Amino acid sequence: MATLNFLTGNSGKLAEAQTLLGPLGWEIQSFEVDGKVPDVIEPQSDNLTTVALAKIAQGVELLASQGRLGESLLVEDSGLFIDALPEFPGVYSAHILESIGCDGILRLLDDERTAYFLTVAALWTGEAVEVFVGRCDGSISAEIRGDGGFGYDPIFIPDESQDGRTFAEMTNEGKSTFSHRGRALSALFDYLNVDGA
Ligand code: IMP
Repeated sequence: MATLNFLTGNSGKLAEAQTLLGPLGWEIQSFEVDGKVPDVIEPQSDNLTTVALAKIAQGVELLASQGRLGESLLVEDSGLFIDALPEFPGVYSAHILESIGCDGILRLLDDERTAYFLTVAALWTGEAVEVFVGRCDGSISAEIRGDGGFGYDPIFIPDESQDGRTFAEMTNEGKSTFSHRGRALSALFDYLNVDGA
């Protein structure tokens, strides 16, 4: 089984990557230095790709400092984009969730509720950086629903949701079938399988 290091402090993201790529023959392991996930600095930027590339650059430096440059490393940056609130929360998704929470988002919205999630995943293959993007269109629910997932999952209903369930009302497997992260990681898997990186 091939191993892919994932540099993330978010256990939900790690679990989703394991759920999706594990059955396909990849062992996804948390990238740690001295037994803990290293901190990376996210630059101020209005672009997820810029943030993901900054994270992978720091990750590659850490790999090099461990003498592990030949190993692969994954980072990703995601954001929720709500059409009625242009560019919001977008790249500020983490900060907005901390400050106003899902409740606060619901209070800001009226009838127009379409939204999408984007993930930009950056992979160090051991030789070069490759970028994969995944998008999931959907809408913001009228109320908070579900105990699963993390972040904005209790207020996001993907278009593919058959019965109006939010991500938080789905299993990780269900969410990953059509989520932004699922799509980015599927593209990454296809790349790894074709190139055997
Ligand atoms: P980041 O990619 O860790 O910077 O995520 C930005 C914010 O979006 C964080 O508050 C995450 O909790 C949230 N977020 C990222 N991915 C998801 C997801 O798949 N579902 C719900 N919230 C997410």
